[in-house]
Amino acid sequence: AKHYTGLIDRYRDRLPVSASTRVISLNEGNTPLIQLQNIPRLAGKEVDIYVKFEGLNPTGSFKDRGMTMAVTKAVEEDSRAIICASTGNTSASAAAYAARAGIKAFVIIPEGKIALGKLAQTLMYDATIIQIRGNFDQGMNLVKEVAELAPVTIVNSINPYRIDGQKTASFEIIDALGEAPDYHCLPVGNAGNITAYWKGYKEYSADSDTHKAVTSKRPVMCGYQAAGAAPFLAGHPIEHPETIATAIRIGNPQSWDYAWAAQKESGGWFDKFTDEEILEAQKMLSRYEGIFCEPASATSVAGAWRDIRSGKIPEGSKIVCTLTGTGLKDPDTAIKQCASARTLTIEAELDSVKRAILDHM
Ligand code: F0G
Repeated sequence: AKHYTGLIDRYRDRLPVSASTRVISLNEGNTPLIQLQNIPRLAGKEVDIYVKFEGLNPTGSFKDRGMTMAVTKAVEEDSRAIICASTGNTSASAAAYAARAGIKAFVIIPEGKIALGKLAQTLMYDATIIQIRGNFDQGMNLVKEVAELAPVTIVNSINPYRIDGQKTASFEIIDALGEAPDYHCLPVGNAGNITAYWKGYKEYSADSDTHKAVTSKRPVMCGYQAAGAAPFLAGHPIEHPETIATAIRIGNPQSWDYAWAAQKESGGWFDKFTDEEILEAQKMLSRYEGIFCEPASATSVAGAWRDIRSGKIPEGSKIVCTLTGTGLKDPDTAIKQCASARTLTIEAELDSVKRAILDHM
């Protein structure tokens, strides 16, 4: 078999590319769908929970799925520069794919609110970083305005090619499970990803006979937000979003209507979680499953945990939680969270090492 060369090649017939399109790819997609083994037992419920670990994409987040499409199309349309506003992951991804394509990337980020790993990546990929004394929503507005005045292609998820790339995650899940899960849990920030997943599930289930899916089933979509940045729970934009999960520190989601429709059409719901609950879910995944995701990503598991334990998601269900980014994106929050963890400091001698082991078995 030919080696894996990215999601555009894999799902070419379902994406807006032609045989002559130059594909800009870093072999993104094809991420593992990992069944949780210990957390269902801790919840005391009979459920199948899988995590779609999008942190294993080339730049460490799901953004690469959308970016391969958006940058491929930008290059096809002769664009020389791309621009985005970002809480960090979109900027890292845009910068990487621009480097790959040989075009310029401009990224607008909120000063002081970007996780360290994301900043390091974006610097290394050599994007032009524009820090603003403002938040993501203000950055987003500026991007939309400046794109009218300068020759730059917007690669935020308001670019429809982003959604097309990201919808392939649903295809992969159906290909892996043979059908859609009963519930799909996602963190929601700018709301592009829940939009993309729902689009993917609808498309793929509509012609289930043409591929491996055995039914036209669609999942219930559950969108989970950080309590301090939960416009879908408030029913309106939030002016000053705040959360430790900086990836989803967003008050005015651009894909509001699509996300709302995904929730409504699927019979799903939105819910919100405190920073403490989000960090607990992040720690639980690391400690009990060996899966380290970034805080925002753990919101999907915080949601599944609450709704499984309450019975809102019934026993016997098959659930997929998307883990949107790797834990290495935000080492500061991880280390701070483990400040009270047991780190032993000893003399560099055999006896001390032996004692350290025996005392802590
Ligand atoms: N999880 C992570 C790790 C993210 O980076 C984002 C969004 C989301 C969840 C939410 O996805 O916006 O499609 O609802 N990050 C964007 C960025 C905003 O700039 O990196 P969404």
